[in-house]
Amino acid sequence: VSKPYWIPVLLGLGGLALLGVAASSHVQQPTAWPRIAERPDNPSTLAKVKLGRTLFFDPVLSNDNRTSCAHCHHPDLGFSDGLPRGRGYGAEGAGASRHDGIVLPRHTTALWNVAYAPRLYVDGRAKDLEDQARFPITTDDEMKQDPQTLVAELKALDEYGPMFDRAFAGRNGSAITFENVCRALAVFERTLVSRHSRYDRFVSGDLGALTPSEKCGLALFQSERTRCSSCHVPPLFTNNEFRVTGVGDVAGLTPDPHKDTAESGRGGGPNTAYRVPTLRNVTLHPPYMHNGSIRSLSDVLNFYSHGGGRGRGLDLPHQDAAIRPFPLSAAEKDDLIAFLGSLTDTSSMPPIPRSVPSGLEVVPRLPPFSRKIR
Ligand code: HEC
Ligand code: HEC
Repeated sequence: VSKPYWIPVLLGLGGLALLGVAASSHVQQPTAWPRIAERPDNPSTLAKVKLGRTLFFDPVLSNDNRTSCAHCHHPDLGFSDGLPRGRGYGAEGAGASRHDGIVLPRHTTALWNVAYAPRLYVDGRAKDLEDQARFPITTDDEMKQDPQTLVAELKALDEYGPMFDRAFAGRNGSAITFENVCRALAVFERTLVSRHSRYDRFVSGDLGALTPSEKCGLALFQSERTRCSSCHVPPLFTNNEFRVTGVGDVAGLTPDPHKDTAESGRGGGPNTAYRVPTLRNVTLHPPYMHNGSIRSLSDVLNFYSHGGGRGRGLDLPHQDAAIRPFPLSAAEKDDLIAFLGSLTDTSSMPPIPRSVPSGLEVVPRLPPFSRKIR
């Protein structure tokens, strides 16, 4: 495990780190970083991080041995895939070149700072990362794996026994269980922390860390005019609440599988509330929104400045009051996009393993494409 890689784990365990005083904030003052919540029975250790990382990149998790978590959540694509909607069972390839197979009803959520989300999925249907991990592995549309079969496959591979035993205090491979697969994945995902961006340097007093254009963008982001920071609250750039912005279904594609969880239920369709996503590392993973229907940050800003779903003519009694039209010049738009770029920090990026115990092919490095899309 290389050095920059375990620092976020220790920081996370260490708990609170206070932000300095922010620049002029009109809407909501930045608060302290919250503590990363862990299950009492699954505290983070380096052995679990290493095991979880290996599992994340090992296609052995899928029933046809062709898909790892990283095929959809690719590190070079902000831990998403660059596709409007995820490509599930039967698909070939990694990231944006994935093709064929089942087209999932939603966009692949980016995983940076997922450790700070109190509930998982845009509709909040999973209660924590351990709970979430079993879904992609077992659902027919994604990895279609049977937990018992997976455990047998892992037990047949020499390297996994000692790794599981070290992480979960087992003997002779006794720690290889489906529950521990999910636990190790969760602990690995909690290391994907992004909190050392140029924006963070700026708010801790390094006033030269942002360009003049980025500073204008920050002021706009926090203004009463745009109201961005009333939902995307620093330092997480989310309030982790569920709000209706009115991103509608796309004509001709499967409508959103509106799940009436307490968090998301507001009437269904475009009246559904989705979790406010973090904007950290947001420039790394277009396209955007729960269904990947908005291709660039420029188009996201058009969506907001025209008044969200209502601005597109949808009947939305539940649309949030903070989503209403506002004027935005071309130069201001550039400033806002520049500011969002200053929230980029990938210093705790895990290394992609060169090989995995199954001997199956690991996802290749991919060229980041974000800067080309405006
Ligand atoms: C076939 C593509 C695909 C694969 C493989 C896949 N995911 Fe996902 N992942 C998605 C999609 C699509 C969503 C959004 C689903 C939704 O919100 O309903 C998602 C959502 C998530 C989330 C929720 C993030 C959040 O902020 O709420 C986590 C965590 C996650 N995946 C982890 C994993 C792990 C761990 C694996 C491997 C065991 C994995 N995924 C495999 C496509 C995939
Ligand atoms: C009322 C709360 C609210 C306000 C105000 C708001 N947002 Fe959002 N934002 C959300 C929600 C909820 C989503 C997810 C919607 C979805 O997935 O359909 C979102 C999604 C986004 C995304 C896509 C992120 C991704 O990973 O897909 C970006 C970028 C974004 N908002 C930027 C902004 C900017 C810039 C402003 C100000 C102009 C703003 N938001 C104002 C709630 C809000």
